[in-house]
Amino acid sequence: MPAKIYLHSPPFGDFRAMPARGGGVALLKWITSFPGNPERGLPTVMGVICLSDAETGAPLMLLDARAVTALRTGAVAAVATQALAPGSASTVGIVGCGLHGAWTARCLVAAGYSQGVCADPREDAAAALADELGWSVGSREDAVRCDVVCCVTPGSQVVIDAGDLRAGMHLNMLGADGPGKAEATVGAVASCTLFCDEWHQASHGGELTAAIAGGLVAREQVTELGAVLAGEAPGRPGPAAVTLFDSTGLAIQDLAVAQAAYHAWQAGAVQAQEVSL
Ligand SMILES: NC(=O)c1ccc[n+]([C@@H]2O[C@H](COP(=O)([O-])OP(=O)(O)OC[C@H]3O[C@@H](n4cnc5c(N)ncnc54)[C@H](O)[C@@H]3O)[C@@H](O)[C@H]2O)c1
Repeated sequence: MPAKIYLHSPPFGDFRAMPARGGGVALLKWITSFPGNPERGLPTVMGVICLSDAETGAPLMLLDARAVTALRTGAVAAVATQALAPGSASTVGIVGCGLHGAWTARCLVAAGYSQGVCADPREDAAAALADELGWSVGSREDAVRCDVVCCVTPGSQVVIDAGDLRAGMHLNMLGADGPGKAEATVGAVASCTLFCDEWHQASHGGELTAAIAGGLVAREQVTELGAVLAGEAPGRPGPAAVTLFDSTGLAIQDLAVAQAAYHAWQAGAVQAQEVSL
């Protein structure tokens, strides 16, 4: 998986090209971030994924990048929680109940976390998600009192500070996935046991970036989630630790979901339009 490539389109936004290969397939995700789009009645994030055969190079499937991104972003939060939260953790607070906050909540429910609090200044968004899952609506303070806290806001405002941290808590920080975004103060970040999806991305455009730039966090203090999952590095150091997972989003995660969709189509479990190129 090479690093993602940014193609700026000023003053509107940027395109991102995200390639990855594995499991006999290869993928390119071509996706946008155009922050002014909602004013034009269009989504901020749009794009397409091309899945190809890694042996012949033949294109196999085109997928909606939004659907795949939402599923993989939610899924990685669930995987990080299973790997890093204490075994006793049961409640989930969602701060930011938009598209990706909703899928994060759905994936945590699928992973067995059945109680939660939804917090969002858009009360209708919080209420719709809470109704769907049988969770409750609450304030930011209610959400951060949960065992697992997932922050999925646009990253333009701090929603976690050091005073919110409690022994045994696990945080999934998903909103800060690009330069200049942050959902926690640098003091809060530096007080946690730190994990990320990929060091290069997280150190340049993730929740960890400001704490690293300020000299409060060094490379050796941050463990990649993959190393924990592969048994190459320890996860949670003990029941009282506060763990923080910085998610920036990886093409290999998109690859896993796109491959699963392709296998589901091959098995006849999902329908797809067929086109000749
Ligand atoms: N880590 C990843 O892999 C990944 C993947 C996709 C998107 N993202 C990022 O996640 C963030 C959310 O994306 P989205 O598509 O869900 O956006 P969205 O606009 O659908 O949802 C964001 C929600 O956050 C709410 N919000 C704003 N300020 C808040 C605050 N202070 N407290 C609580 N809620 C607040 C908004 O009302 C909105 O409902 C973006 O920054 C996006 O770039 C990260």
